[in-house]
Amino acid sequence: MTTSDRWQWMRDELEQLKRKAQYRTLHATAMAGEGWIVKNGRSMLNLASNDYLGLGQAPYERPSGPDAENDLPVSTSDSSCAADILHPSGLRAGSGASRLITGHDPVYALFEQEFAAFKGTEGCLVFGSGYMANIGIISSILQRGDEVFSDRLNHASIVDGIILSRAEIHRYRHKDLDHLESLLKKSEPGKKKLIVTDAVFSMDGDLAPLAELVELKERYGAMLMVDEAHSGGVYGQLGEGLVHALGLGVRVDIQMGTFSKAYGVYGAYAAGDSILIEYLINKARSFIFTTALPPMVVQAVHDHWQRSVREGWRREQLHEKSAWFRERLKALGFDTGLSESQIIPLMIGGNREAVAFAEKLQEAGIAAVAIRPPTVPEGEARIRFSLMATHTYSDLEQALGTIEAIGKDLSIV
Ligand SMILES: Cc1ncc(COP(=O)(O)O)c(C=O)c1O
Repeated sequence: MTTSDRWQWMRDELEQLKRKAQYRTLHATAMAGEGWIVKNGRSMLNLASNDYLGLGQAPYERPSGPDAENDLPVSTSDSSCAADILHPSGLRAGSGASRLITGHDPVYALFEQEFAAFKGTEGCLVFGSGYMANIGIISSILQRGDEVFSDRLNHASIVDGIILSRAEIHRYRHKDLDHLESLLKKSEPGKKKLIVTDAVFSMDGDLAPLAELVELKERYGAMLMVDEAHSGGVYGQLGEGLVHALGLGVRVDIQMGTFSKAYGVYGAYAAGDSILIEYLINKARSFIFTTALPPMVVQAVHDHWQRSVREGWRREQLHEKSAWFRERLKALGFDTGLSESQIIPLMIGGNREAVAFAEKLQEAGIAAVAIRPPTVPEGEARIRFSLMATHTYSDLEQALGTIEAIGKDLSIV
């Protein structure tokens, strides 16, 4: 076999993706402020990120002077250590090991305690990312022989967690409570059961029927896990999430969410009863067998979270601009699917048409990506717009004009 033959099977598979218009490439992208980015050297309006509150694009500055009370308090008798943790130049860029070895920097316990109080749960546990949280939580609480009921449009990280768990999977039709109940009825009494759902669906922008899911899980003796990736920081008066906003609190057994979207940093959490946290520390492999997030990242998460709580205008602006943008798109004749949040799909159908639409948007200075299978079901390719609190109405107005012109050009409206 020659060197050039060695990867022929890969080349073949990639060619297949190209033929199906499912091939993906990376593009250099830098944040430029006020909802703008520079992609491939070109300035574009950013209608494609998860930085809903605009905190990720803001230059990160450690609070100092009168704002210094925003620092995580440090409960340690070693004052030099406290200074290191709190002083900007002393924040560690690396944690050195997993949490269970030597990576459990004091910032962790303090942050987790504060964040659990915010969520209204007994405890909270930080994970490296939302992907790691989902695979770790689900694969540790379910084993072979258990049953899991998962909305068909749940995020890939939930699907991967389920696969890892080896539990029996029942995928219910999107938000279809009758279908879910019929599956729950058929399941064996006494078996461990988990219902799992996104709170805001990442590619459709609609909300899960959480109150009804709580009732079903109570009726059938199941646990309920809610992924607040796209609702944390966005819903609830202070951004506590959709579970909290609906007053469901501890009736939801497991809440998880990320710090990578509205909070604009990185990392994720599981929140729930103390026993759940104790269990995850002992069983979740993506928590145990990985290096802890650097203390400086945890401090940044803390700072952005506090800022998102203080700056309620970001949530208000986001909701206002999202509703306005969606209504304007509909008035122009576009199909925005099921959207009722800051995630607004423009339903197109075919992969090629969606890719052509996205390319034209980018040529016109609007960053928005075509979402294709396998991320969404076959035949449901779309452009996924996502709004930011920091977009200006004049930029959005201009974008709408461009979107309309492209839609007409491609005979979509
Ligand atoms: C619903 C949902 N859960 C989990 C994740 C993963 O989160 P992270 O990006 O922090 O790994 C995502 C990310 O896109 C998501 O949309």
